[in-house]
Amino acid sequence: MEDRGERRKNLLLRVEEGLSSFSLKVKMTILFSLLLLLFGAITLNVVLNYQKRVLLKAMKEKGDLLTRNMARNAAHALLTNNKLELSVLVNTLKKTADVEYCAIVDHRGIVQMHSDIRMIGKSAKLGVGSPQEGSDIIQFVAPITHQRKRIGTVYLALSTKDMKTQLNRFKLNLTFFIVLFVLMGCGILAWLISLFLKPLEKLSSAAHEVGDGNLNVQADVKSKDEVGQLAITFNQMVINLNSAYSEIEEGYLQAVQSLAMAVEAKDRYTKGHCDRVVFYSTVIAQNLDISEKEIVELQLASQLHDIGKIGVPEAVLNKPGRLEPSEMKIIQKHPVIGYRILSPARFLRGVAKLVLEHHERFDGKGYPDGKRGEEISLLSRILCLADTFDALTSDRPYRKGMPLEKSISIILENRGTQFDPKLVDLFWTLVKRGEMEYSNQKKDQCLLIKHLIHLRATEEEVKNLEETAEKE
Ligand SMILES: [Fe+2]
Repeated sequence: MEDRGERRKNLLLRVEEGLSSFSLKVKMTILFSLLLLLFGAITLNVVLNYQKRVLLKAMKEKGDLLTRNMARNAAHALLTNNKLELSVLVNTLKKTADVEYCAIVDHRGIVQMHSDIRMIGKSAKLGVGSPQEGSDIIQFVAPITHQRKRIGTVYLALSTKDMKTQLNRFKLNLTFFIVLFVLMGCGILAWLISLFLKPLEKLSSAAHEVGDGNLNVQADVKSKDEVGQLAITFNQMVINLNSAYSEIEEGYLQAVQSLAMAVEAKDRYTKGHCDRVVFYSTVIAQNLDISEKEIVELQLASQLHDIGKIGVPEAVLNKPGRLEPSEMKIIQKHPVIGYRILSPARFLRGVAKLVLEHHERFDGKGYPDGKRGEEISLLSRILCLADTFDALTSDRPYRKGMPLEKSISIILENRGTQFDPKLVDLFWTLVKRGEMEYSNQKKDQCLLIKHLIHLRATEEEVKNLEETAEKE
C-alpha cells in the first residue's frame, strides 16, 4: 500500500514538474479544453441514453398496440378454429416492420398459428420464439378473451436490430458534431485566453526587462481591470526605482570623480593626460564600426583608466628614475584596483572591464592577465594605444616627454607586438591626415559628466542636452 501511495505521489510530482514548464496560456488552454472535452463526453452520453429511451418507449407502445389488436381480431377465428383467418392475421402482422415472429396459442397451450409454420401444433411451453441469429427481441403477450373468458394468447416479438442501427447512426452523427464543436471550442478558447492574458504577458515582459537592468521600460497595458491597475502600480514603481537608481549612480560617479581628481592631485604627471587619452581614443573609435554607446563607454574608460593609482603609494608614482621590480609590481596592480573601484556600479561594469585590460598587450606580454590578440576587447586595444601614445609625448617622473615624431615611430615599431596591427595602421593614416593633433578647443568633449549623461540618458534627453549645450 505504501509503495502504491509513494508511486502515486511521485507521479503527481512529475505531472506538476511537467506542467510548470508550460506557460500560463498553455496551461489554461489545456485545462479548458479538457473541461470542454468532458462536457462533450457527458452531453454525448446523456443525449444517447435519452434517444435510446425514446426509441424503446416507441417500440413498446407499438408492440402493445399490435398485440392487443391481434388478440381482439383473433378471438373469433380461434373460437371457430378458422385456420385460414388465423393464418391471414399472423402473416399480415409478420409483414409489419420490426416483427420478428407472431404466434396464436389456444387455451391448452398449443400453437394454433405461427409466422414460422414449423412451430404450429407444438406446445407453447417449449417456447414460441424463433428469432433470427444475432437479433435482440422484445416479446409482447396479450390474452385472447371471449365473454371475459380466456381462450388463448397472442405472442408477438419485435426485433431491436433496426432500432440499434438507427441508434448507432445517430451516435456517429452526434459524435462527429460534438468533436467538431469541441475542436472549434478549443480554438476559440485558445484565442480568448491569449486575448485575456496579453496584458499579463506585457506586464511579465516589462518585469523581465526590469530584471535585466532596463529601468526605462514601461508596461503598455491599457485594460482597466486588476491587471491594468497592477500595470499602473508597476510603472510607477519602475519610475521610482529608476529615479532612486539614478541618484545612487550619480552619487557613485561623484565619488569616482573625486577619486579621479585625487589621482590627478597625487600624480602630477597624470594631469591633462586623461583628457588627451579621451581625445585620441575617440578619434580612433570614430573611424571604426563602433556604436555611439560603445564610444561613450570608451571615453569614460579613457577618463578613468588610471583611477587604480589611488592605491599606489605616491613615492612609487612620482619616483624619479627607474622603478625597482618590487615597485613595478605595485604599480602594475592599478588596473585591478581600478576594476574593483568601478565594477560594483552596474552601469560602470563595461567601463571597469576596459580599465582592467588597458595594459594588456597584443602579443600577450601585458598585465594583469597576459591576454593576447582578440582576447582583449577592441575598445581596450584602442585605449591601450591612445594611453601609450600620450604617455610617450608627456613628461614622466623618469624621463622627459618625447618629440611627436619619435612617439609616432615607437607606436609604429610596436605594430603587432604591443598594439593591434590594424589599429596601428589606422593610427598612422589618422596621423597623416592630421586628425591626431590634440587641441584645447576639442577638450570639451572629454568632460566626465557628459559621458555619464550619455551613458544614462535616453536618446531624446541626449538630444535636448546637446541643444542646450549648443545654445550656451
Ligand atoms: Fe595605466
